[in-house]
Amino acid sequence: MQELVINGPTKWHGEVNIDGAKNACLPIMAALLMIDNQVTLNNIPKLNDIESMLKLLQCMGLDMTHQGQKLLSFRARELNYVAPYELVKKMRASILVLGPLLAKLGKAEVALPGGCLIGARPVDQHLEFMRALGAKVEIKDGLVCARADNGLTGCQYTFDVVSVTGTENAIMAASLAKGSTVIDNAAIEPEVIALIDFLNQCGAKISVSGMSVSIEGVTSLKAPAESFSVIGDRIEAGTFLIGAMICQGSILVKGICPEHLSLVIELMKKAGAQVEYSSEEQWIRLSMDRRPIAQSITTEVYPGFPTDLQAQWMALACVAEGESVIKEQIFENRMMHACELMRMGAKIKISSNTVTVQGIERLRSAPVMASDLRASASLVLAACQAMGESVIQRIYHIDRGYAQIESKLQALGVKVVRKETVTEN
Ligand code: EPZ
Repeated sequence: MQELVINGPTKWHGEVNIDGAKNACLPIMAALLMIDNQVTLNNIPKLNDIESMLKLLQCMGLDMTHQGQKLLSFRARELNYVAPYELVKKMRASILVLGPLLAKLGKAEVALPGGCLIGARPVDQHLEFMRALGAKVEIKDGLVCARADNGLTGCQYTFDVVSVTGTENAIMAASLAKGSTVIDNAAIEPEVIALIDFLNQCGAKISVSGMSVSIEGVTSLKAPAESFSVIGDRIEAGTFLIGAMICQGSILVKGICPEHLSLVIELMKKAGAQVEYSSEEQWIRLSMDRRPIAQSITTEVYPGFPTDLQAQWMALACVAEGESVIKEQIFENRMMHACELMRMGAKIKISSNTVTVQGIERLRSAPVMASDLRASASLVLAACQAMGESVIQRIYHIDRGYAQIESKLQALGVKVVRKETVTEN
């Protein structure tokens, strides 16, 4: 196991090149199972989750190489339709191969992803949609066994709950179904739109209006000669922007579409940050010359406040002037970071999915434990503001979603080193 040792406080000053969005790369990589020719993808970050998806796709019959930020893929052999548990258990998003396999092969056996710390994370909506397309779907020995012997036929389906990967699975399956499909109460996060853009470039016929996605099924998908570049990661960008506010510094984040963070940028300005940005040049610049002014948030589906920035905003609330109320509406158990932040002196009251935070001037350093990807990011930001040496253990959580985190932090002036954990408790 590894840990990050951070000596604070630091006033951040510098710039960060934002990587490609993990949550856009994963569905686009799964879609490669449906593409008949070679595909080149750009802006693919070196992250553990990306490598897990790459290994899974190779095991299903795709020949793929990931050099630098470029990913090459082509289908040299017959696809197989079984996604084994030992690979799926590493990453929940592996369920994204279900739609492509059903669409391409008419059958799929995908291990049922487990829950995780932030919630049960069922996939009932994914399965219901495949049934609505005419597939027979059963759960046997922890496996999702799906067959569509007569192919998939377009349908109208309203999701009971807005699901990002559920919508992505549905879009991929419907792209090769016979006839037309309308998906209502669909997720329209930028990562979903990126998948749609990629599929349309490969000949799919998909359009979005409000939270409805319409799809005209086609018989095959072929990637264009030119490569496809994945959008910048709005959660990574948001994490670093919030960090600069917490540490009362300045930062330039490059390779990000500002529109993907519109609501968050408005909130940052209300909290006292100076923010400017360029859509055509894809950068956001922020400076903070005072303690943040407390701003309450409630997480929502896009374009609301993203649940993946809730933990980072809580770290900001811990050092803000005033009281913040933070409400998590997307996941049932995404407040673990609150207890770790309290070990750093934060004044937090937890009641189910709502916390009330009284901001203080300075956090105290402490040894803390990362629990999930975004919770660990919030602890890193808090440690940069705290007085003294903090140790953040189990940072494999961070490596799932933030490439080269320590070199990006060092470029901002943070005193941080990665170490092997000697005594893991
Ligand atoms: C995606 O997860 C993201 N992961 C998550 O990012 C993100 O937090 C989440 O969307 C919400 O924005 C990827 O894109 C790989 P959901 P996903 O289905 O699709 C319930 C990160 O930090 N639900 O939108 O799994 C579910 O329990 C990760 O990068 C059902 O009830 O989330 C949750 O309460 C963490 N039945 C809500 O919907 C279903 O069939 C939203 O989940 C599906 C979901």
